[in-house]
Amino acid sequence: MSERSRSLPRRSCLSTPGSSDRFLAKAPTSSADMSFLDLEDSVAPNEKVAARAKVVEAIRTLSWDERVLCVRVNAWDTPWTYSDVIEVVGNAGDRLDEIMMPKVRRASDVVAMDLLLTQVEKNAGLAPGHIGIEAQIETAEGLINVEEICAASTRLETIVFGPADFAASIGMPVTTIDERIHDGPSNPFSYVFAKILMAGRANGLHVIDGPFLKVRDLDALRYAAGISFSYGFDGKWALTPDQALVLNEVYSPSQELFDKSFDILDTYRVATEQEHTGALMFGDEMIDEASAKIANSFVTRGLRSGMKRTTP
Ligand code: GLV
Ligand code: MG
Repeated sequence: MSERSRSLPRRSCLSTPGSSDRFLAKAPTSSADMSFLDLEDSVAPNEKVAARAKVVEAIRTLSWDERVLCVRVNAWDTPWTYSDVIEVVGNAGDRLDEIMMPKVRRASDVVAMDLLLTQVEKNAGLAPGHIGIEAQIETAEGLINVEEICAASTRLETIVFGPADFAASIGMPVTTIDERIHDGPSNPFSYVFAKILMAGRANGLHVIDGPFLKVRDLDALRYAAGISFSYGFDGKWALTPDQALVLNEVYSPSQELFDKSFDILDTYRVATEQEHTGALMFGDEMIDEASAKIANSFVTRGLRSGMKRTTP
């Protein structure tokens, strides 16, 4: 569990296929908060082994600034997982922050990864616990077990919804993940969002929405991202640098909300500390300790994203 990456924003999480030299070279130039280099579903089976060295080379030689840097390995039910971890974590050096685990089904999947990482870190000379874990919930079984999954390891930093695999897992009659999923006659994603969010927050994790596949339609992306933002999600995957730009906007509080949150905190502090009042009026809204908590979460989120207060 890396303190550095745990406290960084993840409004936009850029996916890059680990087999593509061209996309790997371009990834650090995007303004995404987080980048993950993929060894899983965006890499063809006959490229999986060769992609490991490309990913290691990219981590070691490209300039990744402050962003969270992660590698998605293959799932435990494939032949690739342990070698992915040994080769990548064993050779990437300490700039690698996290491993992302796809298709996590139960807590023991995460425990197994934690144990493997502990050995690999030791042999690679990394600090114990340096590598954090992101866990993807992409199956009905994973969703049912999400509460235990989120509590399975202190390395966990993030819980991620994987809508494409999830739609396949539950038999949704869709061929893509776009905004129409949220507007259909039924919308199982509202249950999924709430369940994953509760489990993640109860364990202090970042909570992230997955990909939006109609990549050229940025307005539709903005609409869909606004839905998970409204639940309280911290960010969403980006498949292109243009998607990342939109997501950085959607998952930041508006300047108005950021400033108002500061004002609420100031007003509340004066009321409680100097006037000994617990509940008071802020304009035409009643505020109390709970309102201060909400305001504090927007201030934290905005500061994490580099926002500055514009009210005195
Ligand atoms: C992401 O991995 C997804 O399946 O949506
Ligand atoms: Mg998936």
